[in-house]
Amino acid sequence: MGKVYLVGAGPGDVELLTVKAVRVITSAKVILYDRLVNESILELAPKDCKLVYVGKSDGKHTLPQEEINALLVKFASLYPVVVRLKGGDPFIFGRGAEEALYLSERGIEFEVVPGVSSFYAVPAYAGISITFRKLSSSFAVVTGHEATGKEKSIDWKAFKDIDTVVVLMGVRNRSFICRELISAGRDPSEPVAFIERGTTPSQRVIISNLREVATSPPQVNPPAVMVIGKVVELHHQLRGLLANLRELTQKQKGVLHG
Ligand SMILES: C[S@@+](CC[C@H](N)C(=O)[O-])C[C@H]1O[C@@H](n2cnc3c(N)ncnc32)[C@H](O)[C@@H]1O
Repeated sequence: MGKVYLVGAGPGDVELLTVKAVRVITSAKVILYDRLVNESILELAPKDCKLVYVGKSDGKHTLPQEEINALLVKFASLYPVVVRLKGGDPFIFGRGAEEALYLSERGIEFEVVPGVSSFYAVPAYAGISITFRKLSSSFAVVTGHEATGKEKSIDWKAFKDIDTVVVLMGVRNRSFICRELISAGRDPSEPVAFIERGTTPSQRVIISNLREVATSPPQVNPPAVMVIGKVVELHHQLRGLLANLRELTQKQKGVLHG
């Protein structure tokens, strides 16, 4: 049997791949990848590597998890190096642990290659530091997907005193989430940021506040990271700084690569 690598692809920018992820991808015989994986990463794969898309397409749902699990086992019996490539980090809302358990129960060797998660990298590219000495000493990361219809739904009151709340998969339920946070006792004028397609050339930042999102939500398209808290105010000062830094990095690269 081959070995399965559960690899984090980072949030979008190819340069946020880890050195280990690059090493594993460049030796893969088959790669199963998700919708949020930047497809230019796949260009790193060897020419003879089989690429299998297991994400959502044209309104169709993602391949059921059981089918993905079964494919991993099948490919592990055919190829020495199987890569399961996931957006961000495989263990942050990525079902990586479910796949790892499935493989472990079947005695298939696997390894997790953590990735740069969108929950902090996407805000960072928008000039938002989720902790900041004078503004935020605590943060929580929560899914916005579970808000309705779940047996044990999220208790938003628990987020009242957390300085920065980061919501993944929260676009559809954004108004509901903000209403819940206001009911929990958070200040309705508290700033809220949405960062769409973060770390990619089409990144878009939308700044609002809890009251506005609760009552007349701005247009936001997934994938987006939602950040609630005073640190959002840093965006105005830091984004310029980041843009300069990126420009500088580009120049340095230009020098390095001639
Ligand atoms: C299923 S979760 C996977 C999270 C991933 N494992 C991680 O660590 O970033 C998908 C959610 O992550 C967020 N996300 C991932 N990549 C993003 C990006 N480039 N820009 C904005 N949000 C992103 C969005 O909230 C999206 O709905």
